[in-house]
Amino acid sequence: MTTTEQDNALFFHTYKRLPLEVERGEGCYLFTKDGKKYLDMFSGLAVNALGYAHPDVIAAIETQVRKYTHLSNLFLQEPQMTLAAQLLKHSGFQKVFFCNSGTEAIEGAIKLVRKWSRAEHRHGIFGMSNGFSGRTMGALSLMDKKSYRDGYEPFLDEFGVIDFNNCADLEAKISKTTAAVFFESIQGEGGVVPLTSEFAATLGSLQKKYGFLLVADEIQSGIGRTGTMFAFEHFGLHPDLVTFAKPVGGGLPLGGILGTSALADVWAPGMHGTTFGGNPVACAAGTALVNIVLAPAFMETLRENAAYLFARLGELKLKYPVIREVRGSGYMIGIDMTSESAPIVEKILMKGVLVNATATTVVRLLPPLIAGKQEMDVFLSVFEECIS
Ligand SMILES: Cc1ncc(COP(=O)(O)O)c(C=O)c1O
Repeated sequence: MTTTEQDNALFFHTYKRLPLEVERGEGCYLFTKDGKKYLDMFSGLAVNALGYAHPDVIAAIETQVRKYTHLSNLFLQEPQMTLAAQLLKHSGFQKVFFCNSGTEAIEGAIKLVRKWSRAEHRHGIFGMSNGFSGRTMGALSLMDKKSYRDGYEPFLDEFGVIDFNNCADLEAKISKTTAAVFFESIQGEGGVVPLTSEFAATLGSLQKKYGFLLVADEIQSGIGRTGTMFAFEHFGLHPDLVTFAKPVGGGLPLGGILGTSALADVWAPGMHGTTFGGNPVACAAGTALVNIVLAPAFMETLRENAAYLFARLGELKLKYPVIREVRGSGYMIGIDMTSESAPIVEKILMKGVLVNATATTVVRLLPPLIAGKQEMDVFLSVFEECIS
């Protein structure tokens, strides 16, 4: 049987797999069983921020595995406390809840908002058009994309979608009874589309005026990816809740919610919980990652490298009209093409570089945060070859 046949025989058909059989990873590179080497400019869907086999992450995992791999949340656990303290210090929030994934973080945030809104006599929870919040019924209720929602109706009551970057629609839909607005500062799946400064300002002033909860989805953009702890910092916004996941477990499943002290008493024991959430091994790996990534010098280097990449992509845009726009921030980059991006991404893969196609025409880069100018140059020369 070929691997495709095995895939078809074994699994529900939810994924379109890449034609690679990976043996191992090291730094920014993946090595396949047929002896090829690939530069990974996609880092396992924005998870592998320190690339593959980072020694600090391996050491943290090894040390914790020898102590205990799981206790349950009936116990206070040192690895959870250490990571929680780091995340609160770097973010300025006061409370954290750990879960296992991005979707679970969204689901938890929806529940927290609902609980809070009942006491406040508010209703109406909004997401943004073209956004991505995950795959549970709650997450899908925040979204409008047909391909993710079709066939799963009915969704949760009292949910709506605001037209992304449309101030008039935002002002028309929000009122003093609104419970919450969920948003991505830079929509990832949606094609690496940032908030406009006008929309961000309107969102911030409506939050002040009406007092709804502003929930920043930083699952893809957070933990240093855009050159700051969170992407909302670039837009002058002050969310009440933040959802995070992807890189925060150093490659192991981990997600969470950060909140302000004003929301500290919304949940009492038993109102929300998880068996695996905040797994101690994932938290130990996450602490190793956060200690490296959020160090000021690391962030500074990342911003410099990103500026270099954006400048070089800007030059390519002038040279090749097939590039319509280059968008994003830090290591979250979308190259919008005048034609479908999937065939270009496939060509780039043939030349040994992994990137991703999203939103029909966008080539998306989510490099490991350890990628330097050398890796950027490898990508740039392959990309130019493929589009010229
Ligand atoms: C912005 C955003 N929100 C939520 C999710 C869902 O996260 P997960 O796949 O970990 O459940 C993702 C995943 O890509 C995402 O990018």
